[in-house]
Parts: sequence; structure tokens; C-alpha cells
Amino acid sequence: MKNEKVDVIAIDGPAGSGKSTTARLVAQKLGFTYLDTGAMYRAVTLKSLRQGLDLENEAELSSLVSTTKIELCHSKGRLKITLDDENVTHKLRSQNVNLCVPKVAAMPVVRKWMVRLQHNMGAKGKLVAEGRDIGTVVFPNARLKIYLVASIEARAKRRAKDFFQASSKINLNNVIEELKSRDQIDCTRETAPLRKADDAIELDTTNLTIEQQVDFIVKQWNKNTENQDKM
Ligand code: CDP
Repeated sequence: MKNEKVDVIAIDGPAGSGKSTTARLVAQKLGFTYLDTGAMYRAVTLKSLRQGLDLENEAELSSLVSTTKIELCHSKGRLKITLDDENVTHKLRSQNVNLCVPKVAAMPVVRKWMVRLQHNMGAKGKLVAEGRDIGTVVFPNARLKIYLVASIEARAKRRAKDFFQASSKINLNNVIEELKSRDQIDCTRETAPLRKADDAIELDTTNLTIEQQVDFIVKQWNKNTENQDKM
């Protein structure tokens, strides 16, 4: 049936709102599969950069995706991302990829291909998927949709802590500018812009710990499934 709900938790929101860690832990708690769609967009961006493609050229990107294989596998609680069989897990968060991923992700041909891949990955259900368009486009029938938000300062601090822990030279203003620019492109693109689905629950994580975020979502899930059982 067209409107039948699927066993998917869709988590969307802007960069640094805590999607990845939250989604991974929620999946662990519920025994679900974790799908990091941002990593998929990052992987295809990495390949485009390596091949020196014009990122605004849809035809070039079209032939790239038609010959690209991306796989996500889970081992020891960690996610491994392979690009054409190469493990690229630790190559996806470079400054260059951060800068270019919104351009590649704005391309309709790339998004169409990604959504198909993501549907295949989620065919068995019991999935926690996070990204920008999960509740609106990829899994509009998800049983639970969460939209995470947080202040720009909180998001930038988290980013700085995640990726530049070793460096004392990190300039928070630069991180804020990068996040703002990425959010701006993600929210204003024509295809599948970042927005809260009408039936999503908004959760402001500015003053929450990861444990509190995870708890909130797991409780919502249990509540939804209990209600479902009563119907
Ligand atoms: O972890 P962070 O929030 O910084 O980013 P990410 O989830 O790894 O996503 C990186 C970029 O991929 C985003 O800024 C979007 O441009 C794009 N993306 C998207 O367009 N749609 C998705 N479902 C996931 C990511």
C-alpha cells in the first residue's frame, strides 16, 4: 500500500546537529542497520575530485555514477565505506570534500542514483537512516521521523572537537562559516533541499548530551510501535 509505514527511523538535519553519532547509537540500541547517506555523497564527491571532473557538469557526473560502486558494511560497531572496493572511510572528511560535497549532492542525476541505492539498502527495513532528505524523499513512509537542530555555535564546537582535536590552531569562526555555507547550499538547492518533513519531530540538541538524544528517539520509537500494536 502506498501509505503503509516502513520500519525506518529517518533522521535529518543540518551539519553538526548530531545526526551521525545519534543514528549510530540508536541503531545499536534497537539492533537496526545504520545508514549514513552523507558518507555516500562524500564518497562520490571524492571520486569526482580524484578524476578532476567539473562538479557542475551533469553529463560528467552521470557517467561517473553509472560506473561507481559504493558499499557500506558494519564491522565491530563501526561503519566501513568502500568506493569501487577501496576502503575510503578515513578519506571522506577532508576539507576539500567538505567544500565540494554540496555541489555534487545538488545534482539531480547524483541524487536519483543515490535514492535508488538507499532504497535497495533499506529494503529489509529495521533501518536508522540519516541525511538531509530521508524523511522527505528517500523514506517518506518512515514510521518515525526526527529533525535535529542546534545553534550554529554548538554545531561548530562539535565539529571542531570531532575533527581537529589534535590542533590548537582551529579557528571557530572558520568552522561557523563553512557550516553556514554548506547549510545554505543544502537548503536552497532545487532537488530535495534540506527541510523538516511535515510529520517529523523537531529536537533541539543544543543543550542535550548524546545519551539524552538517543534516549529520546528510542522512547519515541517504542511509543510508536506500542501504539501500532494496539491498532
Ligand atoms: O556530517 P555532516 O552533517 O557534516 O555531513 P554529512 O551528513 O556527511 O553530509 C555531507 C553533505 O552531503 C551535506 O552537506 C549535503 O550536501 C549532502 N547530503 C545530501 O545532500 N543528502 C543526504 N541525504 C546526505 C548528505
